[in-house]
Amino acid sequence: MSNGLRRKLTSYGDQGFSLFLRKAFIKAMGYSDDALDRPIVGIANTYSDYNPCHGNVPQLIEAVKRGVMLNGALPMVFPTISIHESFASPTSMYLRNLMAMETEEMIRAQPMDSVVLIGGCDKTLPAQIMAAASSEIPAIFLPTGPMATGHHKGERLGACTDCRRMWGRFRAGEIDEAEITEVNNKLVASIGTCTVMGTASTMANLTEVMGLCLPKGGSAPATDSERVRLAEATGAQAAKLARDGGLTVRELLTPAVIRNAMVALQAMGGSTNAVVHLAAICGRLGFKLDMDLLDQVGQRVPLLVDLQPSGQHYMAEFHNAGGVPALLKEVRSELDTGALTVYGGTIGTVIDAVVDEPGQTIIRTMVAPLKPIGTLAVLKGNLTPRGAVIKQSAASKELMQHTGRAVVFDSVEDLSNRIDSDDLDVTAQDVLVLRNAGPKGAPGMPEAGYLPIPRKLARQGVKDMVRISDARMSGTAFGTVILHISPEAADNGPLAIVRTGDTITLDVKARRIDLNIDPAEFDRRMAALPPVPEGPPRGYASLYHRHVMQADEGADFDFLQVAP
Ligand code: FES
Ligand code: MG
Repeated sequence: MSNGLRRKLTSYGDQGFSLFLRKAFIKAMGYSDDALDRPIVGIANTYSDYNPCHGNVPQLIEAVKRGVMLNGALPMVFPTISIHESFASPTSMYLRNLMAMETEEMIRAQPMDSVVLIGGCDKTLPAQIMAAASSEIPAIFLPTGPMATGHHKGERLGACTDCRRMWGRFRAGEIDEAEITEVNNKLVASIGTCTVMGTASTMANLTEVMGLCLPKGGSAPATDSERVRLAEATGAQAAKLARDGGLTVRELLTPAVIRNAMVALQAMGGSTNAVVHLAAICGRLGFKLDMDLLDQVGQRVPLLVDLQPSGQHYMAEFHNAGGVPALLKEVRSELDTGALTVYGGTIGTVIDAVVDEPGQTIIRTMVAPLKPIGTLAVLKGNLTPRGAVIKQSAASKELMQHTGRAVVFDSVEDLSNRIDSDDLDVTAQDVLVLRNAGPKGAPGMPEAGYLPIPRKLARQGVKDMVRISDARMSGTAFGTVILHISPEAADNGPLAIVRTGDTITLDVKARRIDLNIDPAEFDRRMAALPPVPEGPPRGYASLYHRHVMQADEGADFDFLQVAP
C-alpha cells in the first residue's frame, strides 16, 4: 500500500506537523483532501523550448495524468533538466550525469509512490534510466517517439543521417547554398526524436526491450494518436504501481536483461552510444558491462533491421513492421524470455502476442538477415587496452582490414582548423586520428569521432576512410569509424603517443587495432607523457573532471556507481 503525501515526512521531527504543513502548502494549488489522500504518481516534465525532440511532452503529460486519475491515483508533475543534442554545450554527454543526478534526487526528495519518466532525445532516457536504477520506487518510462520524415526533390529526408549526407554533398560542391537552405527547412519535419536508428531510437527501443516501457512504446511516432494512448496507458500502469507496489528498475535489470538488450542492439543496427549508456546503467546496478559478451552476441546475432544508417528506412516503417515485439520474436532463441517487465508478465508474453505483419521487409529473419554480421564489434589492441567499438554494419567492407599512415589531430579544434586545408598532407589510404576528445579530454566526449573526410579528398570523391578516436559518434552516422578508445588520450591512454607518420593496423576480423611501433619505443613514449592536468577549478566542470570515468565504464561519475 502506498504512502502518498506521507512519504518522507522527516524534515521537522514532528511528523504530524510536517504533513499538516505539506497539505497546507499544496492546497494553495486547489487540491482537496480526497485528492491528497491517494497514492501519488510523479511525472518528470522534460519539456523545454530548447528541446524540439520533447515538443509533445505537454500533450503526453496530459494523457499520463488522465491515465493516473482514471485509476484512482494523484498525478504530480515536476520539472527536471532537459537536454537536446544541438543545444548542450560543450556536449550533451557532459550534462547526462547531471540530469541523472538531478532526476534521481528529485524522485528521492519528493513524495511519490511511483514515477513516470518522459524522455526521448539521446541523453535523456539514459539519464533517466540511470536515475531510476538508483531509486527506491518503481519507475515506468515513456519515450517521446520518433519525428516525421520530410521530402525533397522526390526523396525522403530524415534527421539526422540525411543531415550528414546532404551536408556532405554541400561540402563536396554537389549542391549549392540555396538548395542546402531549402533542405534545412525540410530535414526535421516535426517534433519528436531523430527518425533513423540513431541513439534516441536505439535507447527508446532498448527501454522497451528491457521491459521498462509499454510494448510499442519505443517506436510509436511522436505525432500519432497511438503515442498519446500509450501515454494514457503508461499513466494507468503507474497508478497501479503506486497503489500496489511493483518491481523497481534495479530489480528488473538483471544481467540477463542487459544481455537481451545486447541482442536487440546488435540485431537492430543500434547506435554505438548505447554501449556507453548501457555501461553506465550497469555501473548503477553493481556490475560491469561485459564488452566481450557484447562482441560474442554480435557474432551470433546478425543485422536484421533495415533502417538508416545501416540500412534504408526510417522509424515509422520499423513501427509499422511490428516494432520491438516483432524484432524480439525474430531473435527469440537468443533471449531470456523469462525477463520481467514493469507492466507485469514477461518479455516472452509480449512475443507470444505478436501478430505478424504480412509482407513486411523491414525486420528480416535470422536465416536471411540484412547483413550477416552484427552491428557492433569490440576491438582490443595496444592502442586501446580497455576496448573500443566499431559499428561494422555501417562501415566500408574494403576498409575492415587496413594498414595506413596516421594523420593525427590533437583536439577537436585542431581538427576543424586543418581538416579542410589544401596543404594537409593526407591520402585516402591514411588513418585519421583524433585525440583529446574523450570523457575528460574535450570535455564531455563529443560526437566528433565521425571525422569529416578532408575536403580535398571529398572533392576527389572519397567517401570513407579509417578514422579512430577517443570520441563518440552520432548514432546516425556512417563510416569506418573506431570509437571510445580507452583509456582516452587526456587520461594518458596510448592514443596520446601516436605520431603523424606512424602506421596503424585495423583488423576487424581479428578484433584488433594496433599502433605498429617497436614495443620498447612504445614504452618509452608512454613513460614520457606529462602528468594529467588538474582540470577546472570550480563548479560542475570541476566535479566532472575529477569524477568522470572512462567510456568502458559508461563515463558515469565514480561516486554514482554501486560497488559490485
Ligand atoms: Fe534529439 Fe536527435 S536531436 S533525438
Ligand atoms: Mg544523436
